[in-house]
Amino acid sequence: MAPSEPPILVTCGLPYANGPCHIGHLRTYVPADIYVRGQKKMGYHPLFICGSDSHGTPIVVNAEERGTTPEELVSLYHDHFDDVFSRMGVEFDYFGNTDDPSNHRRTRSIVEALMDEGHVYEKDIQLAYCPSCDRSLPDRYVEGTCPYCSSPARGDECDQGCGRHLEPGEISDPVCKVCGSKAGYRTQKHYFFRLSAFSDFLIDYLQNLGGTANARNYALEWVKQELKDWCITRNLDWGVKFPGNEDLVVYVWVDAPIGYISFTEEWALRAEGDWERYWRKPSRIVHFIGGDIVYHHCIFWPAMLKGAGYTLPTAVVASGMLKIDNKTFSKSRGYVLWVIDDYLERGLHPDLLRYYLASYTSHTKELNFSWKIFAEKVNGELVGALGNFVNRAVTFTAKNFEGTVPVGNLDPEVTAKIEAAVVEVKAALAECEFKKLADGAMALADYGNVYFQANEPWKLAKVDRVRCAAVLKNCLQIGKALSILFQPVMPDKMESAWRQLGLSGAAAEALFDDALVPVEEGRRLGVPEHIFDKMDDSMVSDLEEIFKNRVAGLEGKKVEGGEEKMTPIKFEDFKRLDIRIASVKEAETIKGSEKLLRLIVDIGSEERQIVAGIAKSYRPEDLVGRNIVVLTNLEPARLFGVESRGMLLAGELDGSAVLLAPERETPPGTKIR
Ligand code: MF3
Ligand code: ZN
Repeated sequence: MAPSEPPILVTCGLPYANGPCHIGHLRTYVPADIYVRGQKKMGYHPLFICGSDSHGTPIVVNAEERGTTPEELVSLYHDHFDDVFSRMGVEFDYFGNTDDPSNHRRTRSIVEALMDEGHVYEKDIQLAYCPSCDRSLPDRYVEGTCPYCSSPARGDECDQGCGRHLEPGEISDPVCKVCGSKAGYRTQKHYFFRLSAFSDFLIDYLQNLGGTANARNYALEWVKQELKDWCITRNLDWGVKFPGNEDLVVYVWVDAPIGYISFTEEWALRAEGDWERYWRKPSRIVHFIGGDIVYHHCIFWPAMLKGAGYTLPTAVVASGMLKIDNKTFSKSRGYVLWVIDDYLERGLHPDLLRYYLASYTSHTKELNFSWKIFAEKVNGELVGALGNFVNRAVTFTAKNFEGTVPVGNLDPEVTAKIEAAVVEVKAALAECEFKKLADGAMALADYGNVYFQANEPWKLAKVDRVRCAAVLKNCLQIGKALSILFQPVMPDKMESAWRQLGLSGAAAEALFDDALVPVEEGRRLGVPEHIFDKMDDSMVSDLEEIFKNRVAGLEGKKVEGGEEKMTPIKFEDFKRLDIRIASVKEAETIKGSEKLLRLIVDIGSEERQIVAGIAKSYRPEDLVGRNIVVLTNLEPARLFGVESRGMLLAGELDGSAVLLAPERETPPGTKIR
């Protein structure tokens, strides 16, 4: 970095520490990590900061529902996120926690600065209050109707309709989220941030804000309409105490983004760095966020920084929406991919998902995740194009040139193609177009395959060893360029390519401009091995099964008041269930599964194969001959590649299965009603 360059700070929206990491989170964190790795390849030294968002009603309500304390909930998920990020190759320089003392201190100091500057005032307001719980209902403690668009909304946000931030007291028909009672109102004294006074500043600021256009334009629309002052205090015990009124805490959207600053301070303490270079002097601050929190980052946050005298963000990069199997992402309905359980624990390599997230579509567009497309991308692009090319170059050289880099000049066309790919990748990075980055690099892999095919080194090996050597040297050079260009997206896989290519140092340390530095003749190549493994059809259908079963299992359940309540069904519907006594004829475990057994059961009219998730509670040999209860007209399903035509009914007690059985000997086929 030239000494005159301002320092670069990259942050990611802080995950609420109240539930496990899912693919929606990764849509922010993976591209941000690619961006940071890319900046390093441009020769910069960005600082990369994130942490847990530990305050606010999302945490308190959740802890209450689970019968635990906010502290315990937060510490559990803080460690969880830290772990997932490192397993996914997302490498923050510091991962903090907004409940750490440094964040309490920085928040209070910023609020005091805002008060000193006259940006905060007191006002009495009418707030939702639950008569039966006898408490105030801040933010997510209350649900009701959006006063602007009439959609169902929660206290602080119209999350299902127009997306507006809602001020305390604004929501119509408030209902207590805990007990469901109709809420009343109480007058209370609160503190307001004079956001409305920042309109002119914001219009100016937003016009020059870098990052993605979706963030800038959305925010500008809001500012041009009208800005309301923000209530920055809440009636909660959990949070940062408000300076001057210790009965209140500050609103979570005050202390959460301030985490970006206090985590930089924490990093500086440990790394002997200087946090003020980033937050008090000219710097380049880039925020990566989800598309749903643009308002907070482009309006509220810069106004707060401006009011308190801190450096303003240079760019806000907001991601687009997410779908799962073309259905709107929804945890409660099962359209979700949990990063640990559904992905990493199935033995899938993090880089494959990183590639998917980068290359599926433009960062601001809607991304659809499906296992079919995932497998197509892995098999076609990663195995078929990139992996195949590197493997051919390395194995062929190993066989014909004793595993060392052969002698030869680079073809002008190859040089030009590499140069063009480098230009494309750098431009893509500057625009936060991660798809363009991945596609640009993949185009070079495609070219590599065409080059290899067209030059037929297998023929040259017999007739023209000199040209053959040169062709392979060109291929190894393309391989080197590919490992560099793809490294930000697939850091682990590209180190493996780097080693096989016999390059010195690490792919992580190379700059984009090193792509054309000639590979060293005579260097020993590494042992060739396939970088990517093909996914076969049965693997894909097993993965799809997990999704389908989860969605089916959640259908008919509605999450209300945090608890799952069954919607009632009609007697007609019940009658459609064909439940019968059956007797177990055969039972065995299913290879590769810890939970499933394959059973052959007699249901009176016929014998059926069913798969049952009871392997942890019953041994196969103890089941044969027993009477069980089976739902026989359930849609057939495949589990671990084994067809199941019916479902064994069992109770669930503390995580283990309890078989249902008739109270006396009853012949198979007997109907249950
Ligand atoms: N936890 C918030 C969310 O998931 C994001 C906080 S971002 C920060 O919506 F800027 F406030 F830190
Ligand atoms: Zn609305």
